Amino acid sequence: MTTRSQLRAPFPWYGGKSLAAPLIWRAFGSVPNYVEPFAGSLATLLARPHAAKIETVNDKDGLIANFWRATQTAPDEVARWADWPGNEADQHARHRRLVDAALPKRLDREDAADLSELTRAWAIEHGENPQLRIALCGWEGEHEMPRRWTRIAWRSKGSGKNRGKERIWFSPQCLPVNDGELFATAGAELGAEAA
Ligand SMILES: C[S@@+](CC[C@H](N)C(=O)[O-])C[C@H]1O[C@@H](n2cnc3c(N)ncnc32)[C@H](O)[C@@H]1O
Repeated sequence: MTTRSQLRAPFPWYGGKSLAAPLIWRAFGSVPNYVEPFAGSLATLLARPHAAKIETVNDKDGLIANFWRATQTAPDEVARWADWPGNEADQHARHRRLVDAALPKRLDREDAADLSELTRAWAIEHGENPQLRIALCGWEGEHEMPRRWTRIAWRSKGSGKNRGKERIWFSPQCLPVNDGELFATAGAELGAEAA
């Protein structure tokens, strides 16, 4: 039987949190209710080391929503269409077909300009709720959080301009996290914004 800790995100996705997932689950613990408002490839949810309980996920990207809906309703068919020999020319042709069909334009695929601001405002508003453990992901300097939040550095596999600036802010109700081997770079950050 496949356990949760053996599951991986099925495709690469921008901002994927597979390398941060162990840290996030350490801070959350085995929560009875996991809510992922920005699902993407579901790297964090799939990396849960304990048995899943209630899970609610959301993503406004229509292609992402379609992938997960199809996987739920017709997993064998999704596997059949996904399991073709990797071939760059074919990949470009498929990509062009999607772009020419203007499908992405008809689906909402852009992050809103105020997404970061709105997410931070929600996190601050609910940060002291004793029933919530919140992980706010972002980049160094992106969020100014209240003192009781803990900021941790981590490193993704990405190579973009934000490489090395990956940060997660954990709300005060989260479990303590320490700078284990995976998050060795977090040492200087730990405690910097914690109570
Ligand atoms: C960085 S990815 C999520 C990574 C994922 N949580 C993980 O564990 O790897 C961000 C996702 O947020 C989605 N998104 C952006 N704005 C959104 C909004 N207003 N509502 C819902 N989802 C949104 C994007 O479509 C994208 O798939």
